[in-house]
Amino acid sequence: MTDYRALEQQYGLPLQAKRDLVAVRGNGALLYDENGVEYLDFAAGIAVASLGHSHPKLVAAIQRQAETLITCPNIMYNDQRSMLLARLVEISPASLTRAFLCNSGAESIEAALKFARLHTGRGKFVTAMRGFHGRTMGAVSATHTPKYRKPFMPLIPGFSYVPFNKIDPLDAAVDDDTAAVMFELVQGEGGVNPAQADFVAAAREICSQRGALLIVDEIQTGFCRTGKLFACEHFGLEPDLMCVAKAMAGGVPIGATLLSGEIEVATGQHGTTFGGNPLACAAALAAIDVYQQDDLARRAAELGDYFEQQLGAADLSQVRALRRLGLMIGIELKYKVQDKLAELLERRIIALPAGPNVIRMLPPLVVEREQIDRVVAVLRELLA
Ligand SMILES: Cc1ncc(COP(=O)(O)O)c(C=O)c1O
Repeated sequence: MTDYRALEQQYGLPLQAKRDLVAVRGNGALLYDENGVEYLDFAAGIAVASLGHSHPKLVAAIQRQAETLITCPNIMYNDQRSMLLARLVEISPASLTRAFLCNSGAESIEAALKFARLHTGRGKFVTAMRGFHGRTMGAVSATHTPKYRKPFMPLIPGFSYVPFNKIDPLDAAVDDDTAAVMFELVQGEGGVNPAQADFVAAAREICSQRGALLIVDEIQTGFCRTGKLFACEHFGLEPDLMCVAKAMAGGVPIGATLLSGEIEVATGQHGTTFGGNPLACAAALAAIDVYQQDDLARRAAELGDYFEQQLGAADLSQVRALRRLGLMIGIELKYKVQDKLAELLERRIIALPAGPNVIRMLPPLVVEREQIDRVVAVLRELLA
């Protein structure tokens, strides 16, 4: 049998710490390895497989579109792209009236930074400590955590970082040269830290007063993960730009930057070869249908409550805090989580870290209560 681990180790780069698992097939919240061993996937492709693996409506849409037209550059119009653009604007906060389609989260961040510079003619950005925005040079410049940023200095100038959820430092950091303020509404990689309503409202106010734009990074929170279609809805927030990706097409690579009507972008100022391709757009349209028709936002809210009640974190001596919005769940331990993640994997449960001390659980939104019960039983045993 082919040794897939050895092939990846020899020919790939060791960029991400790997679980000792070769995933070859998925179904709903379950993943299977090459020997048919079943795992509960509470990472969901890192917040991508929100519809679960191999959702039949997504599979059918991809098959149909693959037989029809896979690629279509942005030098011509396309049926799937046009319908997706209209649909995205229809479901997004009312301030957002157009969208740029790309292929990943980091690309959507790059576009937002460029559009903010174009619109304001200013060069400075303010982002939140413990935020994470991706690995390209602009996105890394926007990410405060030194391990992501330091090895690549010098980065794009003009970025400053303020403590998340603290209004006064934000107020002091935004001035007449600030193009935009950008943050996540629940910091994902940074520890599952939900934004506070007063901070979000103050950020909106400060940006509007000083002519800076407000960019929200909904790359991890978007598409029902937090119990609303977009986390903006929890705050009644109308941002100037919104970045989405990950779960948008249920697993097919895609991203989008949504823009308010005032932001002008002219021909030639940005572009993409693959962005807006019909295959990804058809997948996104099918995924959005399922998010809405199956009311997966409500399901995420209800199942998140259920998970929290069943876990009873207050009884667990190794748990410092549980932070959560919908099915975006962070369990902060009193120590580093690597050993616990390994123990979970031994029990056939895939989970993620979020910083050194937090176990992050991002199950598919179609997860069954019985599957949550199985994970909770293991967590209660490991963390008691
Ligand atoms: C909040 C947030 N922004 C941006 C990104 C970068 O997205 P991508 O990996 O698709 O470039 C991520 C990825 O984890 C993310 O969680």
